[in-house]
Amino acid sequence: MSSFSIEWLDLREPADFTARDKNLVQIALDSLGQKKDPISPDRILVDLGSGTGSTVRALTKLGASNFVWRLVDLDGKLLDEALKRHGKQLLIEDYQADLTVVNELPLTGANIVTASALFDLASTDFCDALIARIDTRKTVFYTALNYDGTTQWSPAHPLDETVLEAFNMDQLRDKGFGPALGPNATDYLKMKLENAGYQIQVAPSPWQLSGEQQSLVENLIEGIAKAVAENYGIDSNALREWKTYRLQHAATGSCVIGHWDLLALPGE
Ligand SMILES: C[S@@+](CC[C@H](N)C(=O)[O-])C[C@H]1O[C@@H](n2cnc3c(N)ncnc32)[C@H](O)[C@@H]1O
Repeated sequence: MSSFSIEWLDLREPADFTARDKNLVQIALDSLGQKKDPISPDRILVDLGSGTGSTVRALTKLGASNFVWRLVDLDGKLLDEALKRHGKQLLIEDYQADLTVVNELPLTGANIVTASALFDLASTDFCDALIARIDTRKTVFYTALNYDGTTQWSPAHPLDETVLEAFNMDQLRDKGFGPALGPNATDYLKMKLENAGYQIQVAPSPWQLSGEQQSLVENLIEGIAKAVAENYGIDSNALREWKTYRLQHAATGSCVIGHWDLLALPGE
């Protein structure tokens, strides 16, 4: 069972939406021939690791309309929440499934496969198996908000670099897919999708956080400190001091966390 709470996903969603590259979404929707006034959905979108439907909300806000939204997640609670939020207005098909069982993923007929904040958790094996299953001549592939290993805090603290290095190592830990791609996700996907014949566009989608996102920043600081507390040789007193300093500046400082979006269109 994955452990992404509704509260955490809700907390990050506004920052994700602001960060998401809108141009790539537009190109993706245009490539699928979106109708302005759909009578009935005639395109299938499969969202992998959908959570509560963040991709649905982002894409509909940006003009996506005539889709059957096929949401896939291991966590039934998150899927129930997605249905509760959108089941009356949109045609949602929910699939509680483990993404690692790639052969059983409901990809049949997909016009576009999407994912948000997922592939940095995933492994090379998962990406390879998924790409092998997608109909690369017909299916658009779009993935947003994959962490790239960069984090800039302001004001700076002497332990920032050490903490970041440890955090990036921790990002490679197995999150249920085998060793995670972490910050290498976008480069790996780009290479593999290009080899599969796709035309690739990437765009940065950094979180630009300040005191306006204080709760998110505080959660991040707690999460980072917890992730690096063991296994990476950081002195516990120094880490406690870093965390205290960071929390003290959560309301007044800023933080930029790098992510990338990637769009793969079937080649000519
Ligand atoms: C970081 S969350 C992103 C959720 C959503 N896409 C969003 O942007 O809010 C990762 C999602 O992947 C799901 N997930 C993680 N591992 C999974 C697996 N092996 N099979 C299916 N879903 C998985 C989690 O339950 C969670 O909903």
